[in-house]
Amino acid sequence: MERAKEVTEADLARIKEIVSEYSRQKWALIPLVQKIQEEFGYIPPDSIPIISGALGLFPSQVQGVISFYAQLYTEPKGKNMVRVCRGTACHVRGGKTILKLVKQQLGVEEGETTPDMEYTLETVACIGVCALAPNMVVGDRVYGHLNPKKVEQLLKKNGG
Ligand code: FES
Repeated sequence: MERAKEVTEADLARIKEIVSEYSRQKWALIPLVQKIQEEFGYIPPDSIPIISGALGLFPSQVQGVISFYAQLYTEPKGKNMVRVCRGTACHVRGGKTILKLVKQQLGVEEGETTPDMEYTLETVACIGVCALAPNMVVGDRVYGHLNPKKVEQLLKKNGG
């Protein structure tokens, strides 16, 4: 799903300000992009040429590093991350159906964000609470023993 979030002139000015603190320090690429993400909630694609120019890197190098780390992203994420477990224990206890229901209820595919910016859907490998399978995490909370009714109530309760 396309996210149409405009980066304003003020945003660009702020990005330049942050970048100027790290000028010519190639080693600082990761702390720099983390700082931008912390402030904006993501790394606006328009910031990549600014970063690469200041650090003396190619834009593709900056993009490559961002793509390498799953916790860095160039699209805004929803207020709540929904992470459905696709580990083996959850899978054999109906995790696939849970994922299908979450997709239906939110109207998004994996990696996408709802248009109201409430939820971003991801799948994750085992989250370490297999005994409660099937599981998902919404924000910081783990929800186990999921069934269709629970999923519906949970996402409704959270505004979905
Ligand atoms: S497989 Fe889902 S929590 Fe372990």
